[in-house]
Formats: sequence, structure tokens, C-alpha cells
Amino acid sequence: MQKTTKPLNKLKKSLIYLSSVVLLAGCATGQLGKNNSGEYKNGMVVSAHPEASQVGIDILKKGGNAVDAAVAVQFALAVVYPNAGNIGGGGFMVYRGANGEINALDFREKAAASANRDMYLDAAGNPIVDKSLYGHLAAGVPGSVDGMVEAHKKYGKLSWAQVLQPAIDLAQNGFKITKRQAEELNSLHRKFMEFNPNGTAFVNLESTWQENGIMVQTELANTLKLIQEKGRAGFYEGAVADSVVAEMQRGKGLITKTDLKNYHSAWRKPITGNYRGYKIITMPPTSSGGIALIQLLQSVESFPLKRWGHNADSTVQVIVEAERRVYADRATHLGDPDFYAVPQQQMLSAEYNKSRMANFNWAAATPSSAVLAGEIKGAEHEETTHFSIVDHDGNAVSITTTLNGSYGSLVAVKGAGFLLNNEMDDFSVKPGAPNMYGLVGGEANAIAPNKRMLSSMTPSIVEKDGHLFMVVGTPGGSTIITSVFQTIINVIDFDMSMQAAVAAKKFHHQWLPDEVYLEPDALDSLSVQKLRAKGYKLEVRGPIGRVDAILKNKWGNYQGGADPRGDDKAIGY
Ligand code: DON
Repeated sequence: MQKTTKPLNKLKKSLIYLSSVVLLAGCATGQLGKNNSGEYKNGMVVSAHPEASQVGIDILKKGGNAVDAAVAVQFALAVVYPNAGNIGGGGFMVYRGANGEINALDFREKAAASANRDMYLDAAGNPIVDKSLYGHLAAGVPGSVDGMVEAHKKYGKLSWAQVLQPAIDLAQNGFKITKRQAEELNSLHRKFMEFNPNGTAFVNLESTWQENGIMVQTELANTLKLIQEKGRAGFYEGAVADSVVAEMQRGKGLITKTDLKNYHSAWRKPITGNYRGYKIITMPPTSSGGIALIQLLQSVESFPLKRWGHNADSTVQVIVEAERRVYADRATHLGDPDFYAVPQQQMLSAEYNKSRMANFNWAAATPSSAVLAGEIKGAEHEETTHFSIVDHDGNAVSITTTLNGSYGSLVAVKGAGFLLNNEMDDFSVKPGAPNMYGLVGGEANAIAPNKRMLSSMTPSIVEKDGHLFMVVGTPGGSTIITSVFQTIINVIDFDMSMQAAVAAKKFHHQWLPDEVYLEPDALDSLSVQKLRAKGYKLEVRGPIGRVDAILKNKWGNYQGGADPRGDDKAIGY
């Protein structure tokens, strides 16, 4: 029997949230207080896996620049961190050259040409929950390989073959899996077999996975060799494309050879904004993250957060009220800019965001039901992982990349050895129906052929006085935006080091559901009491975000912030 959604009741909301926490478990668990790093003069790589960080730093030491290292890290993560690192998914890159040039690359997946707005609804018009989350139909046309080709073509210094080689070696010779990975893979054994009846490299058919067990991915190594030899044609055409299409036929998916051949990433103009004298450079739509980040910063800028203190009740109240309003806007106004006229200019106006905070009441929480998206006058024309890299010359790259859920759709392309994403769930499958992260949307983010699904990924770079200051980003679905926001204010308002800002306990609100999620011990008990008395519904949940960031301090040294919630690692030189 197919599962269908009922009108959104409390239980449903909790279940959706719980499932998101379970799916996120792969990208945000662990103990605090390890993984670090010191200060370095020449360059730094911070990523979710020590092997991938090492690949990046080796490329920098060979004379590669930040983009060379980023391409090598993206491919290495596809091997050593397959729950989110990928070639079967997509992502975003924000770039700042040492000369001040800024750029943004959108390599987000697209819906197949035969996709349609009702494809995940049953006959009664209700969403069939698992259909956009698991299996072949959940996958969008992958963008990561084209993205890496474009980034390298524009900015790379080393040869394409050189930046692909480390990932090929890791796939061919194998790498040691961590304890966390062994546990995840064992727990997903049954699910992997359900979607891949012939087995995959992620399934141990002989026994269970153990920490330090060697994972070899021969099929993936061959796919990477084809990409190394032929560039984008090695993935979007030929044997790999044939395997993807055969896989689609096996599982009744939609992606065709034409979809693959037609996929192209897009260079976009970064979003910029100012906060207390710092310049924020961040990702434009198809991400909602950049606009929402600037909106949050503008909404809180007039409040004395520093005087109130980090995670003090007044600080939390103002931030939650800002988040409520910004996420209401996100649900209505944001979608793929190639399909929908996002009212970017008005959403980024400081006046608009200040006016949105005007009706907030110190005495009581504003119910989310009383907050609608702001009125925009007139049309305008106009399991994820993050890594941050700075090279010897000061070029900086901030990339967030994803399959969406942990291990994506769980479908590994037979013969080609890589996982397909389940990014289609990021579309609004029906107006008002929440996705895996509890996010709702409407027309702006409805499914359409060849359209990109809205994202929350927020790779960002911060400048101070015209110089590089911070490179930052995180996974975490809907919590990405609020985690990047908190990391930035932890440094700017609360004077934390990069590592402290990353490790600091986080909280999150997203308009709907009307609940404030807290990491354990994020707030002291008095603050919790005061906020509850004002009507805020506070819920303690598991870890929020997994931020990997770099700060350039006043002596010109790079400090890493590698999130202790995971196996993340900052390596400098
Ligand atoms: O693009 C997005 O917003 C989501 N697909 C991100 C998913 C994510 O962060 C999962 N990992 N923790």
C-alpha cells in the first residue's frame, strides 16, 4: 500500500522532523572538542573527512590553487564520504579570488524533462511521501561533474588529470572507513539491498563493516577514470550515461540520455550584503540560503546582541523572530531563478527586513500563523557536505555539495558505482506539504521539467575592509541557513575563534513548524524558562549542522574550524 499524507497534524510534523534527524544523522553526530588545527600562513583545507582534507592540502602543496584543491576534494569526498560527497548529486560554489573577484557556480541538479508538478501525488492529490525520497524517481539530473569541469576550466591551474588522480587512487586502492561510517553502512545494509538487489560497494556481503575496514570501489574508480580522460563527456555521455539510463529503466526513473547531455551548470552573480562593517558574499538562487542569510543579518543588526550575550534569552528571542519572518518569505518567494522571478532586490533591502521586525513583541512569541510572507510590490526581472579552502595566494573557495539525504536515493548506478541523489524532495511536491526538512513551499518551487529545486545550502565568504576574512558553510537541510548565520555572528558579535564559533551550541527556527529546536545545553535553564513563559515552544534535538570554516585572523594567519560533531578535519600548512 502506498503511504499518503493527511493534512499536516502535529504527529505528522514530528514524524517528518524525526525522519529528517535520522537522515541527517550521517552528517551531524559526534563528540565535541577534537579535530584541530592551529594557525597557518600558507593555506588551509577543512572538510568532512580527513582523507579528503589531505587530498586538498597535497594539491595546494603541489602548486595547485584553491579551485584545483576544491575539485580534487569534491571527487575525493565522492569516494571517502559517500553519504554526501558525490558525483551523482549537485551543489554550489562561492569563489573569491585574491584580487577581489567574486563568482558563484550553480551545479544544482535539475528535474528531468519528463518531470511534472504532480508526479509525487496519489489519485486523491496527496503526496506519496517515499516517492520523492527513495529510489530512482527521487533523483534529479546530477550536476556535480559539470560543475567541477566548469570551475576547473575557468580557474584551475593544474591539469584536469592531476586533480582527478587522488580520488581514483582512493577508489581503486581503497581507504579506511571510520567507526561512524562502519555503523552507518551496517545499519543501511537492508535498505541498500532493497534498492540494489545485486549488491553495491557499500554493502559488505561477507560480514559486517568494521572501523578501519578497507572499502574498495572498483566501478567508481573506472567511472572517475572516464571523467579524467573525457571530461564532462566521460559522465554525461558514453558508458556512464548508458549505465544511468539502464538504471532508470530498471527502477522506472525518468532521467534520459538527453537529460544528461543537456545538463549544464550556471555561473551566477553572488549575493552580497553588509553586516556591522563586514561584507558577506554568498549564494544566490537556486539557493534560498544567501538571500535568507542576508535577511537574517539585516533583521538583527539594530539589536545589541553583543551586550545581551551569546545564546542569552533576548538574543535568542530576536533571532527566532527574525528566522520566523525570513523562512515565511522563503516558502513563498524563492525558487529557481531561471523559472521564477525571485524578488531579490526587495528581499535584500535593509528597510524591508527592518520593517518585517517592526511588529515583533517582547512580551510574547509571535505565532507563526500570524506571520505571512512579506508583501512584495511588483515583479522584478531580474546528506550534504561543506568544505572551505584557502590557497597560498589567498584565493578562497566555499563549496556545499549534496545528495540530499544520507546516501541520497540509496540507488547506486550498476556498473558505474556511484549513488544517485534524492534531491527531487527539495521541490514543493504540493503547496503547503512539508518536505523531509519540514519546509513548505508553493508555486515558486513547484516541479517543472528541467527546473532546479530550491536549496538551503549557503556556501559563503566574508570580507573585512576589502580583505578575505572568513570562508564558511555547512550541511543540515533547513538548518543550514541558521547555522551559517550563527557561526558568522559568533565571530563578529561574540568574538569567538573560528573553532569555538563552529563548536558553539546552535538553535533553529524555520517558521513552520512553530517550534524552536535546540541542541542539548544550548541555552541555560533560566533562558529556557523565560522563553517558555513568553510562549516559545522549545524542543531539544540532536546535533545541528556540521560547519567547516576558515578565519583569517589579524596577523594574517588561517585558523580552521572543523566541526567536532563529525570526523571533520582542518589541515593547514
Ligand atoms: O539543498 C538543500 O537544501 C538540501 N538538499 C540539503 C540537504 C542537507 O543538508 C542534508 N545533510 N545534512
